[in-house]
Amino acid sequence: MKPHAVELPLGRSHAQPKTPKIVLLIIFGTLVLLTIIPVFYPLLGYPVYLLKHSSSKPSSTYDSQELEASISISEGETCDIFSGEWMPNLDAPYYTNTTCWAIHEHQNCMKYGRPDTEFMKWKWKPDGCELPVFNPAQFLEIVRGKSLAFVGDSVGRNQMQSLICLLSRVEYPVDVSYTPDEKFKRWKYTTYNFTIAFFWTPHLVKSKQTDVNGPTKTGLFNLYLDEFDEEWTTQIEEFDYLIISGGHWFYRPSVFYENHQIVGCHFCLIENVTDMTKFYGYRKAFRTAFRAINSLENFKGITFLRTFAPSHFENGLWNQGGNCVRTKPFTSREIALDGENLELYMIQMEEFRIAEREGRKKGKRYRLMDTTQVTLLRPDGHPSRYGHWPHENVTLYNDCVHWCLPGPIDTWNDFLLQMLKMEGAKSHHERLYSDKRKTRFE
Ligand SMILES: *[C@@H]1O[C@H](CO)[C@@H](O)[C@H](O)[C@H]1NC(C)=O
Ligand SMILES: *[C@@H]1O[C@H](CO)[C@@H](O)[C@H](O)[C@H]1NC(C)=O
Ligand SMILES: *[C@@H]1O[C@H](CO)[C@@H](O)[C@H](O)[C@H]1NC(C)=O
Ligand SMILES: *[C@@H]1O[C@H](CO)[C@@H](O)[C@H](O)[C@H]1NC(C)=O
Repeated sequence: MKPHAVELPLGRSHAQPKTPKIVLLIIFGTLVLLTIIPVFYPLLGYPVYLLKHSSSKPSSTYDSQELEASISISEGETCDIFSGEWMPNLDAPYYTNTTCWAIHEHQNCMKYGRPDTEFMKWKWKPDGCELPVFNPAQFLEIVRGKSLAFVGDSVGRNQMQSLICLLSRVEYPVDVSYTPDEKFKRWKYTTYNFTIAFFWTPHLVKSKQTDVNGPTKTGLFNLYLDEFDEEWTTQIEEFDYLIISGGHWFYRPSVFYENHQIVGCHFCLIENVTDMTKFYGYRKAFRTAFRAINSLENFKGITFLRTFAPSHFENGLWNQGGNCVRTKPFTSREIALDGENLELYMIQMEEFRIAEREGRKKGKRYRLMDTTQVTLLRPDGHPSRYGHWPHENVTLYNDCVHWCLPGPIDTWNDFLLQMLKMEGAKSHHERLYSDKRKTRFE
């Protein structure tokens, strides 16, 4: 058994080294974007959320008073919670590796001797409003009687484990998994009748490993780009919320199938099979995953796309000594989304919009958890070499893909709670809108 092999969401042509960029680059990036892909322009606008304005004190406690206070929403005020900067937060972290047992071995950075702790002590400050720090009591009240599924790879599981740790101040779940297979976990919060599930589907579509090595020693996969991965698509109908994500596994060599035939590949080095790049597979996989969701008659839940989380290898690729040794976040002036990260992000945005449009006709609801920029600014949050003992020979020796817990991805759950709080208002608005449409077209 190679425990780490299952984890490694990487392939050879992985992310370029990241270096801080100056403002000029940001402007340049924007120009390139607008020039090359004007069709994407509307997508650059981040979703706008109605938000309570930031008059209240920073919320670092989770008493019931605050619970009521922060649920109220003043209508008419808008704020993009995904656009902002990281600010110091001396109250963090809200759990440790001794108070929470759910931290994955390879993300338990303190256990493996990470010397600095500053990376845990930041919170996200959106421009023009506040993102309240996660309030476990409030979260559990909101999700009482509901169920939430994480659909994706080990970065998705990383977020789930962060959520379990954040909630651990109130309650731990019991394991109610339907299989001993660690790839499909189910947890139940008995007091709240709330269920969390994890579905392992790193490619989101039906896939098969055909060679454990392949051209880059990271496996060769058949991706059936137009076929559902039934391991999750047959299981999610009952869920109230889905958080779907994916990315790093598409860097690995793969052969693309459509209509049961090979249509091309990504770095498979097979004679007569056209290299179509990872981007082709990525786009088609998301298209098919969303098609699966839209085809589920009885699925009444909300689908959150948690957008691509860039890795932060510097001075080399992941298998060429690249590492992430920074101990502070970037500011948004220091780095811009570019290159492959930008491309993967834009593909997601485009497929998300298509799915949302299609889904609307069938009463399906989609939301964007737009963590890419937020995450890009956190080169300091990865395990680096503190995901294992120094003498251990693991594949991803310097891990600049996953996230230490506690750490920056705890903030993804701040977003989740905030978005759930917004749901009441938003779903109400959507119902009004669709009712109006109905009357108009009748
Ligand atoms: C937690 O981290 C400390 C170092 O801060 C380490 O000594 C300890 O072994 C870790 N405990 C667990 C349960 O991981
Ligand atoms: C628990 O929640 C499920 C939905 O997730 C619901 O079907 C069931 O009736 C609930 N059970 C109780 C005891 O409230
Ligand atoms: C590749 O294509 C060429 C020309 O069509 C053909 O001669 C050759 O046999 C093909 N090779 C394989 C492995 O199919
Ligand atoms: C690490 O393991 C790989 C195969 O799993 C092996 O090829 C390599 O030599 C090992 N390196 C060390 C330093 O043990």
